[in-house]
Amino acid sequence: MRRKDIRVCVVGLGYIGLPTAALIASRGATVVGVDIDDEVVATIADGRIHIAEADLDGLVQKVVFSKKLLARNTPEQADVFMIAVPTPLSGNKKPVIDHVLAAAESIAAHLTKGNLVILESTSPVGTTEQICDLLAELRSDLTFPGYETDSDEPDVSIAYCPERVLPGRILIELVQNDRCVGGMTPGCAVKARNFYELFVRGKCIETTARTAEMVKLTENAFRDTNIAFANELSLICDHVGIDAWEVIELANRHPRVEILKPGPGVGGHCIAVDPWFIVDAAPHQARLIRTSREVNDSKADYVFSRVRALIDSYPERKVTCLGITFKANVDDLRESPALEIVERLAKSCGSLIQVVEPFVEDLPQALARHGARKIELDEALDQSGILVVLVDHDAFRRVSTARRNGAIVYDTRGIWQHTPPAPTRGIAGQLA
Ligand SMILES: NC(=O)c1ccc[n+]([C@@H]2O[C@H](COP(=O)([O-])OP(=O)(O)OC[C@H]3O[C@@H](n4cnc5c(N)ncnc54)[C@H](O)[C@@H]3O)[C@@H](O)[C@H]2O)c1
Repeated sequence: MRRKDIRVCVVGLGYIGLPTAALIASRGATVVGVDIDDEVVATIADGRIHIAEADLDGLVQKVVFSKKLLARNTPEQADVFMIAVPTPLSGNKKPVIDHVLAAAESIAAHLTKGNLVILESTSPVGTTEQICDLLAELRSDLTFPGYETDSDEPDVSIAYCPERVLPGRILIELVQNDRCVGGMTPGCAVKARNFYELFVRGKCIETTARTAEMVKLTENAFRDTNIAFANELSLICDHVGIDAWEVIELANRHPRVEILKPGPGVGGHCIAVDPWFIVDAAPHQARLIRTSREVNDSKADYVFSRVRALIDSYPERKVTCLGITFKANVDDLRESPALEIVERLAKSCGSLIQVVEPFVEDLPQALARHGARKIELDEALDQSGILVVLVDHDAFRRVSTARRNGAIVYDTRGIWQHTPPAPTRGIAGQLA
């Protein structure tokens, strides 16, 4: 396979699909980017982007104008099909793979002998097999992995390759991260690895599709569990009247202890969601994983109650919540505990609540409806009596103690309350 000769169809042009499509196109392949959202397609076709991601705007403009990336609302024939559509949770915490199956269905008519289909969406174990079954049913004229064939190789190869990029560094990590390439058969894994090696500099390691699916879920459940420890510790420290940040900082001086940072909960489309896929698959075994989810979710309730108590104690003070995104320096609001807390505050205190969020143009309806208003950071620092830090955006980190004008501070991210001395050894892993 040579990069310039390949035609790739990327289905789903969100936080994962668009950077992936743009990167592959920038390496010389022709990429058809597909989305069911017409506004997304129109924006990209215009050389613009609809998400905030470092350096993505320039790259998309370049590949769209050079006609290497073509934005479409339906799939077209290609050599490789990549699926990067959402895999949300239902209200009762069950994985919803409808978008993945719909995406697979949409490519079925365009498949030809020799094609490779790769699922990148974070998926419950067995989803890649379900795609294979669906495609085999829709295209009985082609052979698929696991179905009886006369030749060793199926006409269409199928693999699962999870994405583990960090928002804000996606274009760098798409190239640098190691990849876990799970084939429906060993032959499918080899084919998928050969494809990824065209644009990935990290190591591409072959495994089975089921193992690769579990690897992705495991990574996020591991992080959720570790964050739950930090969040639970922060609740315990509050209860006994000790500064959790100081405890963590001192405990982390033990050579084999690396406690993560507490926060107002855990958000985002991955860590707050994926562990439930494991709980759903093995409810009796996944006890720690379930409890960790519950601990992290309950942290938002706790933060809300503490802010409410502050408001009740100082009713004359204006309250500003700093940040509503799910993590620092991104515009992503999905599963954001900060947003959930501010929504509940706006609902109970209405126009008393002000919000500073440099990464979002307009406040979501749910906030605006209750009278919460968006203000600039300087205005907030000038006139707020209570400052609630919910997101550790760089702009908030830079605010000096003097600039806070004596406001009461509730800092759920520990960016102001405690200034740690310079570390004496390797820094503990960053949170998502
Ligand atoms: N965002 C991340 O940081 C991240 C990291 C690792 C893995 N993932 C996983 O990657 C997958 C995609 O996540 P995302 O953040 O890119 O989602 P997203 O919501 O940003 O984008 C998904 C896009 O898919 C489109 N879409 C939905 N159904 C479609 C269909 N049938 N055909 C064509 N387009 C369709 C949507 O309109 C949307 O634009 C999810 O499974 C997610 O868990 C995300």
